[in-house]
Amino acid sequence: MKKFLVIHGPNLQMLGVREPGVYGTVTLAAINSRLKKIAAKRKISLVILQSNIEGKIVDAIGKARDRFDGILINPAAYTHTSVAIRDALAAVNLPAVEVHLSNTHTREEFRRTSLISPVVKGTIMGFGPHSYYLGLEALIEMVV
Ligand code: DQA
Repeated sequence: MKKFLVIHGPNLQMLGVREPGVYGTVTLAAINSRLKKIAAKRKISLVILQSNIEGKIVDAIGKARDRFDGILINPAAYTHTSVAIRDALAAVNLPAVEVHLSNTHTREEFRRTSLISPVVKGTIMGFGPHSYYLGLEALIEMVV
């Protein structure tokens, strides 16, 4: 059975109440539950982590090397700042998909740069929670 690591970065635990005009009203628990359903149908096992701490995300990616077959990640604000998360993804060299609820290119200038995009297979953004579901499908297509 293939196993994927799903990583939600900082502040995503507040989905549902956080800036609903930008991120919608679906909670992280609801997103996780639908991700698990999609995965179960395709006989994929998921381990899901949300952290507000950059080092915890870096540690989790580093340990994923021999334990997982792929990574689905919404690095959230770390997308635009974290050389450490980018380097961790490049180091483990697992197929990874970056997702964002919002289309970061239509927002503030500082969100237009992703340090993560150059080290992942692809990025899906702008479709709300569906970015995650499409990202998972993309990962499944790549790995299974
Ligand atoms: C986000 C976009 C980021 O710019 C922001 O910092 C987030 C969420 C998204 O999913 O749209 O926290 O990654």
